[in-house]
Amino acid sequence: MKQAIIVDQLLSQHPIISDQISKSALAAVLQQLDKVLTQDVAGAVVEFGCYIGTTSLFMRRLLDAHQQSDRRQLFAYDSFRGLPDKTTADSSGAGEQFKGGELSVSKKQFLQEFHKANLTAPVTVKGWFKELSPNQLPTTVAFAFLDGDFYESIIDSLRLVWPRLTTGGVITIDDYQKEALPGVERAVRDFFQDKTIQLHHEQHIAIITKS
Ligand SMILES: C[S@@+](CC[C@H](N)C(=O)[O-])C[C@H]1O[C@@H](n2cnc3c(N)ncnc32)[C@H](O)[C@@H]1O
Repeated sequence: MKQAIIVDQLLSQHPIISDQISKSALAAVLQQLDKVLTQDVAGAVVEFGCYIGTTSLFMRRLLDAHQQSDRRQLFAYDSFRGLPDKTTADSSGAGEQFKGGELSVSKKQFLQEFHKANLTAPVTVKGWFKELSPNQLPTTVAFAFLDGDFYESIIDSLRLVWPRLTTGGVITIDDYQKEALPGVERAVRDFFQDKTIQLHHEQHIAIITKS
C-alpha cells in the first residue's frame, strides 16, 4: 500500500514532460522500482533510451524519496541522435511508426530538464548501446528500464544488463506486445529463449525478475 502511495503522489505532483510513455505505463515502471528500492536489492538503476528524461526524472524523484540517491547511482543512456534504423525484425503490419533519426534530443536538453526540476542529473552516457564499453556501465544493476523501441536496441541493452543484474533485480521493458513495435517482444523472446525467467506484463511493460 505504501509503495503505491509514493508513486501516486509523485505522479500527481509532477508533470509528464513527453508523450513517449503513458501515465499508466510510467506508474507500472515506478512501482517495480519502488519494490526494488524497498527490498534494498544491491546495484545501480539504469535506463536505456532516456530521450528527454520523462522517466529518468521520476526515477530520480523516487530514489530521493527513498533517500537512496547518495548511495545508489542512476545511469541514463541514449544515442542523443534519435532512433537507429529499423531492421526486418521491426516490420509490422500496423504501419510505419517511428523511423531512424526520430526522437532526437541533445544531451544538453536532457540535462537541462534535471536542472529545471532542481534534481541531481544521472550519470548520462551518449552513445549507441552496442558501442558502449564495460567501463561505461555499473558493475551491478538492481533495476533497469529498457525503452529503445526496436529489436536491436532491446537485445543490445539486454546483453548489457542481464549479466550485471543482481538476484532479485528487475528489468522493465516498454512497448512489449505493441503491434507497431514487434521487435521488442521478438528481442525479449530471442534473448531469453535459453534462460529460465519470471516474466509478466502490464500496461505494455514487460517485467522480468532475476531469481
Ligand atoms: C521512446 S524513446 C525513450 C523514452 C524515454 N524512456 C521516456 O520515458 O521518455 C527511445 C529513445 O531510445 C534511444 N535509442 C533507441 N535505440 C537506441 C540505441 N540502439 N542506442 C542508443 N539510443 C537508442 C532514442 O534515441 C530515443 O531517445
